[in-house]
Amino acid sequence: MTLPNHRMIRYGGDYNPDQWPEETWPRDLETLKRAGINTVTLGVFSWSKLQPAPDRYDFEWLDRLFDLVSDAGMQIYLATPTASPPAWLCRMYEDILPVDERGHRLHYGSRRHYCPNSPNYRRHAVDIATRLAERYGRHPALALWHVDNEYACHISACYCERCAQAFRRWLQAKYQTIDHLNDAWTTSFWSQRYRDWEEIEPPRLTPAYHNPSQALDWRRFMSDSFLECYLEQKRVINELSPGKPVTTNFMAWFSGLDYHRWAPHLDVASWDSYPGTGADAAEVAARHDLIRGLKGGRQPYLLMEQTPSQVNWMAYNAPQRPGEMRLRSLQAVAHGADAICFFQLRQSRGGAEKFHGAVLTASGSDRTRVYREVAQLGRELQRLQSIAGSEYRAQAAVLFSWPVWWAVEQEPRINQSLSYIDEVMRYYRALWRRGLEIDIVAPDADLASYRVVVAPLLRITTPDLRRRLEAYVRGGGLLVLTFHSGLTDDVDRLHMDGFPGLLQDLCGIEVEEFDVLRPGSTRSVSVVEPRGDFSGTYAVELWCDVVHLRGARALAVYTEDYYAGMPAVTEHEVGSGRVIYVGTALPASAVEALLGWAASHQGVSRVLEVPEGVEVVRRWMTGKPRPEAAQPKDEPVTFVLNHNPHPVSIRLPSRWHEVLTGQDLSGEVTLPGFGVWVLQHR
Ligand code: GAL
Repeated sequence: MTLPNHRMIRYGGDYNPDQWPEETWPRDLETLKRAGINTVTLGVFSWSKLQPAPDRYDFEWLDRLFDLVSDAGMQIYLATPTASPPAWLCRMYEDILPVDERGHRLHYGSRRHYCPNSPNYRRHAVDIATRLAERYGRHPALALWHVDNEYACHISACYCERCAQAFRRWLQAKYQTIDHLNDAWTTSFWSQRYRDWEEIEPPRLTPAYHNPSQALDWRRFMSDSFLECYLEQKRVINELSPGKPVTTNFMAWFSGLDYHRWAPHLDVASWDSYPGTGADAAEVAARHDLIRGLKGGRQPYLLMEQTPSQVNWMAYNAPQRPGEMRLRSLQAVAHGADAICFFQLRQSRGGAEKFHGAVLTASGSDRTRVYREVAQLGRELQRLQSIAGSEYRAQAAVLFSWPVWWAVEQEPRINQSLSYIDEVMRYYRALWRRGLEIDIVAPDADLASYRVVVAPLLRITTPDLRRRLEAYVRGGGLLVLTFHSGLTDDVDRLHMDGFPGLLQDLCGIEVEEFDVLRPGSTRSVSVVEPRGDFSGTYAVELWCDVVHLRGARALAVYTEDYYAGMPAVTEHEVGSGRVIYVGTALPASAVEALLGWAASHQGVSRVLEVPEGVEVVRRWMTGKPRPEAAQPKDEPVTFVLNHNPHPVSIRLPSRWHEVLTGQDLSGEVTLPGFGVWVLQHR
């Protein structure tokens, strides 16, 4: 879906001028506009200003701001301020404040201090959202609703009595009878059997491990509780503000919420990106691909926040180096972002984030490197306007699941050093380095369009998932599965037929047991059937599945320990496709070699040959609804991003038009350090 009022690249950010004298506003807006800023996000955290007392509302300052912004020819993302309930509200209803797992109630005085199941919080949150929607819902300058802010950030669970009651209701709806719950949670173990729903508690502090099925359901329940808060606001906004899109800003790899369950309820996905100077480009790319993948992978999303220079919450808050912010912004556009927004447009004078970077300094100055870079990017985004709404098309998918993340990393763990995100990145990075365009999608996504699908640590499997993976492979797909797959069902019980559970036939193997390696400890594997550059011997870490072949062939075998000679990597042909099972943690070079072979076997080649650290990604103009213009040819715009601080030389085999400079490029050309080209075929 392309948002009708979003057929442009938006450039903006959080603007909280409620902390400044009103005389500064027109000048701020004029300075921001000169930098190309066309959208401002208002009202995030403004609750105590909008509603200074229970029965007093003050919207006049916001009215004036709406007028000023629209007179300046800019548009507004309007936030509901519900991420920070005012002190008077928390004092009126103690149950608004969240309780930790030890039973301690937290205090107000920072932000995000609310229990998602507090009826008093919810009623007041919906009330302020309703009043904002009544007042501004049809305002022509309003482009989008930004509900709350980073749901579940700082505190992603509340353990109060109301949450306990809501948890019981949620469980009742899920399991219907207490016997079903007892069965699903295996409560006969450790004498945990429940007679009555009332006996069930949140996983509060206990002497030993929580019941893992209970803990998993609790994460799901908490994610749903915050989702309910969002949906309650969205319902009134939809009613009072017809046609205006609604979103909330996410945080990519954030374990507090299952964003896949939220995604259908967002008109457009959006997120906040804070990589820090010198961050690994593949890590950042993966986060973009995860967020775009929430809506299936093709349609654009919004970069709702990033810093124009530095943050204030890292151990060392170095500013981004000259050119880095531009590079990161264009990387976001390349991956499908149709909005580049900052936190924040003007630096605060006081408060916890006064040392956080901003487009304008606290004094409102534009005589800074940061402002000049923001203004340069503003001019460049103007040149990219026509790509708004265009599509991303990935050849590869990496499957990602929040419940798998929770299950892999909740206590007790099989291997303390095993990190789900690290394993996802082990495979994502290899695909990225081979120049593939990648979607990170939920296991239940439609896989038909992908040439290669990788599902690292697919611990939770269901019969339906198994069926769909098989259909994908039979249809000619290449599926890569790894160790720690198929171990459990969706409430974290073991499958009754050994490992990798429901995936055994598909993989053509049986895993008898697994060895677990401590950090620094390795075993060696030797490739017995090379696949492309995947050959020779490799030192593996973390985990070694002890594998028996049941129809698959061994590509690599262990050469040490009691499982020497047994398969470590296998391949199984199924229908017109194949499944590669990697029973251990291969080093990056081996994963890259194996996936490089997989990609070329599946007919995927690099768009351009580029040096190390250079990323090439495309956005396709077809799929872009443009009733007002003739449908453009199905041609991509190709972004070439040099993540190295030093220049690189690239050979362009044909003649290209570079959109940002208007120059034609061909042959051997130098791309500066942190430089970007946006290329179209001549
Ligand atoms: C985000 C948050 C903003 C601001 C920013 C600082 O997580 O949404 O309000 O705190 O971080 O980097």
